[in-house]
Amino acid sequence: MDASSQSVILAADRLEKHVVGPSGSLEILRGITLAVHPGESVAILGASGSGKSTLLGLLAGLDAPSAGEVRLLGENIGELDEDGRAALRAGQVGFVFQSFQLLPALTAIENVLLPLELNPAHARVPARELSARAHSALEQVGLGGRARHYPHQLSGGEQQRVAIARAIVDRPAVLFADEPTGNLDAETGARIIDLLFELAGPVGTGSGQGAALVLVTHDTALAQRCDRIVRIRDGVLA
Ligand SMILES: Nc1ncnc2c1ncn2[C@@H]1O[C@H](COP(=O)(O)OP(=O)(O)O)[C@@H](O)[C@H]1O
Ligand SMILES: [Mg+2]
Repeated sequence: MDASSQSVILAADRLEKHVVGPSGSLEILRGITLAVHPGESVAILGASGSGKSTLLGLLAGLDAPSAGEVRLLGENIGELDEDGRAALRAGQVGFVFQSFQLLPALTAIENVLLPLELNPAHARVPARELSARAHSALEQVGLGGRARHYPHQLSGGEQQRVAIARAIVDRPAVLFADEPTGNLDAETGARIIDLLFELAGPVGTGSGQGAALVLVTHDTALAQRCDRIVRIRDGVLA
């Protein structure tokens, strides 16, 4: 690996995504080339239906491209199987979604614990130590007092804070967020974004962990808080 590729934590090269939908074949993404550096925040800004969520899924290794390549943390995602992608994500990648995606049958603390328990690197770490880490992540998002609440016993903003705690608990190198304020009122959304930037942000600011942040949004004001904005329109970067 040369010096320039070492400073890239995530790279997409000529990504394409085609699907066969109800009305025939559809090119959702075309010729997407993009690089993200460690600790950098990048907004992917575009209108509804422009392909943002599809792109995020490819960048995060949740979905496979029709053509092109994604390198995440130095690995070519296309060369990994499902288990390989899961292993790559464990402990290194965090997600925050518009719809929170908490598991309804688990309490807040159990939701936050899950990525720690699923990470094979922690197999020998005592359970109480993992619990303590999950608690401290909940405290970081201001929800230390809600640990035993189930998602339906929390407000939308609180659920998203639990989701942020879950995303950052294992100190990921890359944090992906897809319209993280889309289901929240403006004031709650603003607080969620503050928290996301504070917790993900550069080491030394707030409790920042130095994660790279890839934030998908249709909200220009939100996008402007990132180091860089990449615009997407009809599946093509502008
Ligand atoms: N699995 C799929 N099958 C067919 N069409 C899809 C599929 N996923 C997304 N699309 C279409 O691709 C376009 C981009 O979707 P999406 O990435 O969700 O956009 P955004 O997140 O920017 O709103 C939309 O027109 C959507 O209807
Ligand atoms: Mg979307």
